Amino acid sequence: MYFDTHAHYDDEAFQEDRDALVSGLPARGISLVLNPGSDVSSSRQAVALADRYSFLYAAVGVHPHEAGQMEASDLERLQELSCHSKVMAIGEIGLDYFYNYSPREIQKECFRRQMALAEQNKLPAIIHDREAHADCLEIIRSFPNVRGVLHCYSGSLEMAKTLLDLGWFLSFNGAITFKNARRAPEVIRYMPADRLMLETDAPYLTPTPYRGKRNDSGYLPLVAQAIAQIRDIPAEEVAAFTAENGKRLFGIPSQAGTRSSGLF
Ligand code: NI
Repeated sequence: MYFDTHAHYDDEAFQEDRDALVSGLPARGISLVLNPGSDVSSSRQAVALADRYSFLYAAVGVHPHEAGQMEASDLERLQELSCHSKVMAIGEIGLDYFYNYSPREIQKECFRRQMALAEQNKLPAIIHDREAHADCLEIIRSFPNVRGVLHCYSGSLEMAKTLLDLGWFLSFNGAITFKNARRAPEVIRYMPADRLMLETDAPYLTPTPYRGKRNDSGYLPLVAQAIAQIRDIPAEEVAAFTAENGKRLFGIPSQAGTRSSGLF
């Protein structure tokens, strides 16, 4: 079984065929999906999708790109949404110093407030960290009761070791299949099997040789194959342990995604 721990089916890229695509995922071997939000509206859509599909779970949060637009009332909305039984995490939240769509100080404040929300609700966090490694780590360290995942991990091996010591998970997607993937193989080789997770970040980051096309969870086996090659183990093994890790981190019942639990 495969667990896609990060896919954005609320994205407008799926406007035309969302239901057909999502309902077809189990038949393509994708047993579980976690759909994070990127603002209040997309978090609501993620929750609506989770209501509709038994195998799809949601996270709610405001992405650093949207931090500049965040209002105090948004935190209240996120708090309300986080009480829903299929909201398993706060995310995606974090810092993006590559695009800098929002001022850094505002990004940091928005990130801290949502880490506090995760702590308060005893939920894990899904972190987006682009070119902001030091500040991300500093904020993560200031919330020792919060665990979570650095999604699309792009930091150094040294930072990975620190995060693993703090009890965090790392997830990887199609970016590791790109020719310019530099640091990820080293981290993937080093990582203990019980902290690694798979994701697509659909509709973005479609793995080679489909790079450039719209991504969806059906491409997840290509990510598993890339990891299997790096670790020199069978891809089925990667699929199995990464799915178990996702269930454990997000508190998803162990029978979820198996055939006996039904699809609807
Ligand atoms: Ni994302």
